[in-house]
Amino acid sequence: MRILGIETSCDETSVALLRVEKGISRIEKHLTATQVLKHAEYGGVVPEVAARLHAETLPLLIDELGIAGKDLDGIAVTRGPGLVTSLRVGTDFARALAYGWELPIVGVNHIEGHIMANWIGKDVSKDGAAYKLPALILVVSGGHTELILMKGFGRYECIGSTVDDAAGEAFDKVAKMLDLGYPGGPEVAKRALAGDPSKFAFPRPLLNKPHFDFSFSGLKTAVLYTLQRKKAWNEQETNDICASFQAAVVETLVTKTLRAARAKKVKTVFLAGGVAANRLLRDTLAAAVKKDLDGVEAVIPGLEYCTDNAAMIAMAGYFRLSKKKQDGWKGMEPDPSWELGR
Ligand code: KG4
Ligand code: ZN
Repeated sequence: MRILGIETSCDETSVALLRVEKGISRIEKHLTATQVLKHAEYGGVVPEVAARLHAETLPLLIDELGIAGKDLDGIAVTRGPGLVTSLRVGTDFARALAYGWELPIVGVNHIEGHIMANWIGKDVSKDGAAYKLPALILVVSGGHTELILMKGFGRYECIGSTVDDAAGEAFDKVAKMLDLGYPGGPEVAKRALAGDPSKFAFPRPLLNKPHFDFSFSGLKTAVLYTLQRKKAWNEQETNDICASFQAAVVETLVTKTLRAARAKKVKTVFLAGGVAANRLLRDTLAAAVKKDLDGVEAVIPGLEYCTDNAAMIAMAGYFRLSKKKQDGWKGMEPDPSWELGR
């Protein structure tokens, strides 16, 4: 089977060709055009600008793939959650292709896409068979921070989420306070490499509460109050703030994930979403699962499949299309607040 994946939910325009042969999934082509330089001028994503850039770029990327309808078995496109105007460009373009090429089309939940990134390159002949279930997934992106219990493919239960900012959003806001540009996550992580994580004692919000919810707005405010203590911060101090902030986020995420994994007796722990690109988070989570959870496997997505991409959308779409489940071009409407599992 060969699936075309399309992702336009936020500020990356991405297309991918996924092939499943002898039960193994493989990405044949993958093109992503990022809009970050454009949005950086405004300090964040401007929805109207994002939609216009998707509309300009998506046809060019599809053309660059050099495919025709006869080369494909189906189309998978992100239907939500995300910015409605951005989603609209992807779903409308995808359904026009499905109509013209007479192909099945399925709408993919963006968060499920992030999770399914972990199946790329794996045996996908049976749902989820590449890993032992039940599994716990830590989803950390610009818009989401959630702990999801996965009992089977398509069977998800959210057991904890952020009560305010998402982890990626906190990285972006701290970067903005420090004038490090947009998106802030990668830049804060880079600065943190040269910083001392013990220089500033930032809070670990909700760390000792028994539930699995997160909160990052108090941590962000603690960074703000620290910055207000004096007028200018030099290079080294800025690096120390980044390292101390990053350490607080990572400790909170990993501690809660381990507690939830123990409570729910899962066999696998997955990391998913843009913040999964964070080196400290990847290493700390993998090491903690290995050390503290007997017989549990930690699965971390490949770096190229952490931030928004169409390969993960094609992968998630495959599981539905291979079972002859589809929405049809008439049903392809964006759902900007689509909750996973609904
Ligand atoms: O999944 P994603 O590409 O988009 C959403 O679905 O939101 O995640 C983007 C988020 C941004 O907040 C960005 O700052 C963050 O992921 N991010 C990182 C890193 N790379 C991206 N955060 C921390 N460290 C990184 N290396
Ligand atoms: Zn995302």
